[in-house]
Amino acid sequence: MHSVISYPDRGHWGDSKWRGNCSGHVYQDLFRQLQPSTFVDPMVGSGTSVEVAKEMSIKAWGLDLHQGFNAVTDSILLTVGEQVDLCLSHPPYGPMIVYSGSVWGSEPNPADLSRCGSNQEFHEKMQLVLLNQRDATKPQGFYGTIIGDYRKNGTYTSYQAEMIARMPSDELAAVIIKQQHNCVSDSRSYSKLALPRIMHEYILLWQKKSGPLLVLLGTMAREQHSRLTGTWKSIIGLVMQRLRGKASLEQIYQEVARAAPQKLAVNPNWKAKVRQVLNSTGMFSSPERGLWMLAA
Ligand SMILES: C[S@@+](CC[C@H](N)C(=O)[O-])C[C@H]1O[C@@H](n2cnc3c(N)ncnc32)[C@H](O)[C@@H]1O
Repeated sequence: MHSVISYPDRGHWGDSKWRGNCSGHVYQDLFRQLQPSTFVDPMVGSGTSVEVAKEMSIKAWGLDLHQGFNAVTDSILLTVGEQVDLCLSHPPYGPMIVYSGSVWGSEPNPADLSRCGSNQEFHEKMQLVLLNQRDATKPQGFYGTIIGDYRKNGTYTSYQAEMIARMPSDELAAVIIKQQHNCVSDSRSYSKLALPRIMHEYILLWQKKSGPLLVLLGTMAREQHSRLTGTWKSIIGLVMQRLRGKASLEQIYQEVARAAPQKLAVNPNWKAKVRQVLNSTGMFSSPERGLWMLAA
């Protein structure tokens, strides 16, 4: 298996009429590559993944909201009763395909991930789903998701980038690009489109390291914290570039206030934060009292 895959034919597994279904060949390739003995799909849809797994003599479970299982709130591990070698989801993303009250059921279900009120809600719920999947995975086993990107009204949302940023970076194992075929959008006219049409999805795989959950949460919190510090460093670095590499503390405050008003609104101690970043990150030096430079 390579990191770029393409299957124009979806095979005989699952239901070709189930909107947003995935080619069975994707699962077949992944199972051949990862050799799981046990597998769970917590958003099984029309059942493609589990049909492929069973055909390959892999013990498999398929769960879905349409059966009453909510991957955001219900433990996959407790539902299945054992940890598995591979736990792979294929969530709805963006409002492109709405499931409850449309593909299945007569009423909208508020737990339906295709009915999230905002991208932020989806990103946060999917982080919890991925941690749920990880919990149901054996140490050294794999968990992951099949997800695409979405552009609407000129705004590009990269769900996969959000997921990678929210999960432990030392567990990321593979990013596979899957070409998309037979999308509903294929039939629409895009003659005036200024940017390339999205014709791919991602398969993201993480490999679970052993160790207690609290250690993992500590690692994730540290990673998020260092990203935030990194953002502050970059903002102050940009400000210093604009000030030609050398400035007084007062000039830096003024430029930061201009450059990052939203950040400042949520951090009332921002001047202390600026001083902390200047003093502690090694990116800046002070040749004389009250004057700061970008370090070489
Ligand atoms: C893209 S489809 C999966 C398609 C599947 N791979 C196939 O080939 O048929 C996404 C599925 O996620 C399910 N879903 C949405 N929200 C969910 C939730 N909170 N918990 C579990 N399943 C959910 C939907 O019902 C839908 O069946």
